[in-house]
Amino acid sequence: MEPKLIFADASGFSTPMLALFAVDLATGRNEEPRPLLLTQSSDLADAAARALGPGEFKAALGETALIHATDRLKSAGFQAERLLLVGLGKAKDLSLDKLRKGAGTAVRAAKARSVRNLAIAFPDAPIETNLPLAQLSASLSARALVEGAQLAELDWDTYHSDRKDSNINELALVSKVVDDNSAQQMQAGFHEGLIVAAAQNFTRSLVNEPGNVLTPTELGARAKAMCDEAGLACEVYSTEKIRELKMEAFWSVAKGSAEPPALIVMTYEPSGGAPADSPILGLVGKGITFDSGGISLKPGDGMEKMKYDMAGAAAMIGAMHAIARLKPAVKVVAVVCAAENMPGGRASKPGDVVTAMSGTTIEIVNTDAEGRLVLADGLHYAKTLGATHLIDAATLTGACVVALGMLNAGLFSNDEAACAKFVNALAISGENFWRLPCTEDYRENISSEIADIKNTGKNRWGGATSAAMFLKEFAGDTPWVHLDIAGCAWNEEKKPWLPYGPSGVAVRSIVEWVRSYSV
Ligand code: BES
Ligand code: ZN
Ligand code: ZN
Repeated sequence: MEPKLIFADASGFSTPMLALFAVDLATGRNEEPRPLLLTQSSDLADAAARALGPGEFKAALGETALIHATDRLKSAGFQAERLLLVGLGKAKDLSLDKLRKGAGTAVRAAKARSVRNLAIAFPDAPIETNLPLAQLSASLSARALVEGAQLAELDWDTYHSDRKDSNINELALVSKVVDDNSAQQMQAGFHEGLIVAAAQNFTRSLVNEPGNVLTPTELGARAKAMCDEAGLACEVYSTEKIRELKMEAFWSVAKGSAEPPALIVMTYEPSGGAPADSPILGLVGKGITFDSGGISLKPGDGMEKMKYDMAGAAAMIGAMHAIARLKPAVKVVAVVCAAENMPGGRASKPGDVVTAMSGTTIEIVNTDAEGRLVLADGLHYAKTLGATHLIDAATLTGACVVALGMLNAGLFSNDEAACAKFVNALAISGENFWRLPCTEDYRENISSEIADIKNTGKNRWGGATSAAMFLKEFAGDTPWVHLDIAGCAWNEEKKPWLPYGPSGVAVRSIVEWVRSYSV
């Protein structure tokens, strides 16, 4: 699918299916829904209303109704064969993210009906209403719509032998004709949306892979291939380099597996180089291609899910894909620590003590708390490569899932400015992160009688914070943002706008965070 942005009158646009958004004007809890179509064509709105019975379509978020072109619609100048009404929910809650979900809903509804060519009408408030639509920038709306469409298009049936191609061939986003300046801005937003969604989909394709296919070596190969294509520098190292760098924490995780680990370093330099003293951003990802728990073996139930324990790494690789194409004026280095956490004969044992690359000694109490071990060396290494600001993403703790469920990922930081930039990025990305504490009073959680620190908390309370405190030790004084995406990396439930499977969470927010440092 190669989406296009077209400036034309949507109601006269000839297409097998035209999707039109609607909001619900009702505000009170007990008020009957009052759907309003987001079009300035009152003929079209009228004809659509007549084709539906009362209460048949409520414009709830993700709700759809299909209308085949009636004579009335045709006589109103309507050219499409079918009209798909797509609900965006309550008018007062309309947001960019609702548009993203609406576009996704349209695409998935079309796919389910084997419609290959789809047009989506850019939402346009009827003249007589004062909807908050005007507050949504046209450029960001174009971006959100194309992102939603692109993310919804994929189904993770890669490994079904009877896989059918149900792809959309053509997608047109149809906006009313606007002045040149506005059209240019919308085109720019549309283009950014294509780039960011492609990057997020690349991340999802990596997360979707099973552990036997996507080993650390394979993850390195795929990152390298992406970098070669995108024009990024990329080095993929393995055991020898990891040991030479004295990354004992990273190695302590990798050594229990027959699969060699991979240390992946991707570098983006702005053209013409960055001015001296400008920030260098360090992106660090947890890339456990399978987490059995190691000697502290996980229970068998649900263990198959631990193939997505590399989602943080995949988010960083995807973010670099977008960064290479968006070309912000800031240098970025990404470090991915990829390994398999297995209970082999050479595996680390509870009670082992290792010295991280930074010199900090670690008592390994639980070999299943392996993410923080690989990230400890990844964060420190990013600093030695010059990173002045750090961000990491990791499916780090079950405790974060207990705390926030699957609708918000965890956000931690040692620096208000870096954190504020991330929170601002969320307004554009539409992703949900909820800040949790990692203040110094929690430091005792990870103190050890045996070594400088231990890799679990003193008890099971506040486990996501204990893990963050461990990472904070390695960020040191460097401004750092930590994203615990354990609960959000995999969509367990399909939505009208998204399939079951890998979500690609954090890519969009990380990309915006990086762009916020562009000078
Ligand atoms: N990969 C897991 C965390 C996880 C849980 C990811 C659920 C995705 C979904 C991590 O390595 C882990 O096992 N953490 C332990 C830490 C504990 C031993 C201190 C956990 O959360 O139980
Ligand atoms: Zn684990
Ligand atoms: Zn893990």
